[in-house]
Amino acid sequence: MRICACAPDPVSISPITSENTLAVFICRYLFRRSLARLEIRVQKVIPALKRTLVGLDETARVRYMRQDNIPGDNVGRTALFAEQARNSVGHFLSPGEIDGTAKLVSYRSLHLYSQLAVVTTAKAEILAAFEKTTPDYYIAAALIGALIAILATSLITTRFWQKRITEALAQSEARYRATFDQAAIGISYTSLDGSHIELNAKVSQMLGYTREELRGIAISHVFHPEDLPKVMEERRRLVLGEAQSVLQELRYVRRDLSVGWVNRSVSLVRDPVGRLDYFVAVVQDITVHKQLQNALRLCEERLRGIVGSALQGSVTLDSRRRIVTFNPAAEEIFGYRADEVMNLPADFLVPPRLTANYLAHMKVLLSGNYGSDTYPRKARVTVLRKDGSERKLETSFSRHSSEIGAFITLLLVDITPQLMAERRLRQLSAAIQQSPVAIIITDLGGNIEYVNPHFTEQSGYSFEEVRGRNPRLMKSGETSASEYKRLWQLISSGHEWAGELRNRKKNGELLWEFVRIMPILSDEGAAINYMAVKEDITQRKASELRERIEQEQILHNARLIDMGEMAAALAHELNQPLMAIVNYAGVVERLLTTDAPDRQRLQQILTYIKEDASRGGRILWWMRDFVRKRESQREPADINGVVRSVVRLTQIAARASDVSIEMAFAEEISELPIDRVQIEQVLFNLIGNGIEAMGSVAGERRLEIATESSEATNELRVSVRDRGCGLPDRIAMDVFSPFFTTKPGGMGLGLSICRGIVEAHGGRIWAVPNDHGGTTFYFSLPLARQLT
Ligand SMILES: Nc1ncnc2c1ncn2[C@@H]1O[C@H](COP(=O)(O)OP(=O)(O)OP(=O)(O)O)[C@@H](O)[C@H]1O
Ligand SMILES: [Mg+2]
Repeated sequence: MRICACAPDPVSISPITSENTLAVFICRYLFRRSLARLEIRVQKVIPALKRTLVGLDETARVRYMRQDNIPGDNVGRTALFAEQARNSVGHFLSPGEIDGTAKLVSYRSLHLYSQLAVVTTAKAEILAAFEKTTPDYYIAAALIGALIAILATSLITTRFWQKRITEALAQSEARYRATFDQAAIGISYTSLDGSHIELNAKVSQMLGYTREELRGIAISHVFHPEDLPKVMEERRRLVLGEAQSVLQELRYVRRDLSVGWVNRSVSLVRDPVGRLDYFVAVVQDITVHKQLQNALRLCEERLRGIVGSALQGSVTLDSRRRIVTFNPAAEEIFGYRADEVMNLPADFLVPPRLTANYLAHMKVLLSGNYGSDTYPRKARVTVLRKDGSERKLETSFSRHSSEIGAFITLLLVDITPQLMAERRLRQLSAAIQQSPVAIIITDLGGNIEYVNPHFTEQSGYSFEEVRGRNPRLMKSGETSASEYKRLWQLISSGHEWAGELRNRKKNGELLWEFVRIMPILSDEGAAINYMAVKEDITQRKASELRERIEQEQILHNARLIDMGEMAAALAHELNQPLMAIVNYAGVVERLLTTDAPDRQRLQQILTYIKEDASRGGRILWWMRDFVRKRESQREPADINGVVRSVVRLTQIAARASDVSIEMAFAEEISELPIDRVQIEQVLFNLIGNGIEAMGSVAGERRLEIATESSEATNELRVSVRDRGCGLPDRIAMDVFSPFFTTKPGGMGLGLSICRGIVEAHGGRIWAVPNDHGGTTFYFSLPLARQLT
């Protein structure tokens, strides 16, 4: 059972102390022994007790019984309250609802004694004993007196201690309240149905609601909808007793709809009899922490992204030179995968001959004493790849330290290709500098940006004199404006121009240059510069000219010789018309001696004379034309016509040798730009050789000359077919060599001259034995393309 204690004010009831116990004891004694008979005195001694009797029941809830102190008041005015702690809201219990209350009621019905009472299950026995006791009035009076004295003393003591306790309680309460209100963390009490009962200032501040607004509001209102399942689960576990408390990170929604984070620890409070009562939650706002965490994570991800996708290799080493990061670009540089090298000391990435230097460098780097000339922040280093090859890297170092030691991060750029390109550039640059041809580089406007030393040598201009100027300052004026226009059109459309230009040196001398001008293209294919490569061909031109003159002289001589050889036949040929003219003149003379000359006959004879004279004149013209000294010149000519004119001339010699000449011409042959006299000379030689080859041969002496064009080979072919002695195999290869002859009086120059002329025209010459004796000589000339 629990013991009753008396108190003037039930609100300030305290747990039972020894004093209370004493008071209770006294009460009990008083009750047991004297209550029924000394009621008036008791009432007088302790009037405070008139109002209230207080006890704690089995569940530690305060129960007090109040009764208006009106003598003779009946039981119907008695009330028994049950109250919980500080809450004045309780409920009445009718007397019958408490064990032993019936007895109590019967004692309270003695209204003068009813200020003191004990609610007890043992009360029945006690009361029974009391009822049976026959009190000794005097003893009882004495005892009552003593007891009252003791009771008074006890009451005073009790009140003193109660006051102290009350004060302590008030202080404690104030402290608790202050702690609750000013706590740096949020504290909230929520009912079992999930609504706020009470919360502190921190919670209200976090959520942006006033405390009043939050009281009674469901917690689901303030948590993020996505986190509500977590909240429900937490409640379920607590209610089912699966956990004493649950700690988790949750998002909440503030009044302004912004979202924050809390670290929330919740536990369930039960009432003294173990029934679920309410939840206590302690919440810590971790929004800033979360934001920082997110920012850090983002930062880290971004950093990872940057390092991962960086074109630069990135390798981080710890204080023991072990590899802790190795990005994809580093994998590319070293040829190792990151997982192959992770946590290994990086020493194996350095060629063994450089290990000592590398170790010294790393030591300095790790100590942080770098940045000097000896140990700079950037360096070119040589590394060893997985395949054993070496690479040159441009490396920059940075040191950073953490609680677990120093780290070195190396940013690496493979400069091997760059170095190779530099080397190639140096080689090219040296080649250009040393080049035996003049090189000019201009911008797109034609302004000179660079000339090599040979340019100065060739033109007489120094670089300083031509820098920024246009190469036209060297123009001689001999090249046509249209050619310059063509040049610019070509190079500005990305093509190359090549040709011979007559230019003028600084000293005024003229020079011939073979010039190639081409655009220099960027990686994107756009022209960024023009480059001209100029070769001085003045000497070559002069010697070519000399050669040509000599060649022409040789050809001329050859023609003279040919003509000499034909002289007899020509003289014979020329003699014929001359003799005819003489004869005709005699006839005319005779006719004129008659009185009446036959004028018609005279007219006829004069016509014959004219014809023969013309014939003789033509022979002389051909001879003169063939042997005259002349410069080589090419003009469009009809090959069939050329053949005809040569045959006319050689017919005379042919007839003398009893050789007939037949011609077969291809139709519709376009004119070709040829040196007519030279081609005539070729035909002259071939026909002459053919006639000579048939000189000692019996049978028909026929020379066939034919022209044909071949589209397949795109050439015009001329053949001279004889029925002569033929060309033995053993000499077939030699006949085109100069001075090869099988003829006693021959010079052996005819065919070699033919080859020279034909090849100069871009054609070729060859001989084929005929099936039935004799030889056919062919030469060809290109049809479509320009002859060189
Ligand atoms: N139609 C031919 N049939 C057989 N042999 C030939 C014929 N044409 C040339 N030859 C041979 O080729 C040689 C070289 O001929 P080429 O015309 O070059 O010199 P050549 O006729 O001997 O003397 P020339 O300088 O007076 O012409 C001849 O000596 C001859 O042996
Ligand atoms: Mg010959």
